[in-house]
Amino acid sequence: MCSQWPCFDPPLRLAVMASGSGSNFEALVEATKKKLQATVELLVVNNHGCGAQQRAQRLGVACEVVDHRGFNSREDLDAALVKRFQDLGVDGVVMAGWMRIVTPVLIDAFTNRLINIHPSLLPSFRGMDAIGQALASGVTITGCSAHVVTADVDTGPVITQAAVPIHPNDDHAALSARIHRQEHKILPWAVAIKGKEWRR
Ligand code: GRF
Repeated sequence: MCSQWPCFDPPLRLAVMASGSGSNFEALVEATKKKLQATVELLVVNNHGCGAQQRAQRLGVACEVVDHRGFNSREDLDAALVKRFQDLGVDGVVMAGWMRIVTPVLIDAFTNRLINIHPSLLPSFRGMDAIGQALASGVTITGCSAHVVTADVDTGPVITQAAVPIHPNDDHAALSARIHRQEHKILPWAVAIKGKEWRR
């Protein structure tokens, strides 16, 4: 387990935030069973019944629905998340397809400890539908980036990236699947890289 991957004793404690299918969440949980010495203490989802919640059930990971629709502001939502994560004493928080803009309330409570996964080679194709943006632009290589979250969307320091070719007949689904396969590899590795800093 501890060849090239760093050792964490005790294991890193993580929280994950997701809104959709949750394949990155599942890849992270699977990595914790093999090479990444970490535990996912909690998955937070904002969409009741989303794929990520279903995966958590199957994987035996605690999951809570924190529905943004029940809060008056983004800041109120983030304050609830911060309270939950601080109560759990997590080392870091991973945004694995969290489709909400986060505010300084969360970012400042977890400075350098909040990681996002984005489906492009940042700084290219920030924001919504990065895969569609890449397809429309005519580039032949795109990819994915794990980065630290800062106040501006998709601009924080890159932790690690993977390049993904765009094939001539790619549609959105085909390219998305190819990018996801790489995301599932780099996200656990990004946690390991940051974990070394968190435990320094
Ligand atoms: C990923 O492509 C990620 O880069 C983006 O949202 C997507 C989440 O996919 N932020 P999944 O829910 O993990 O399958």
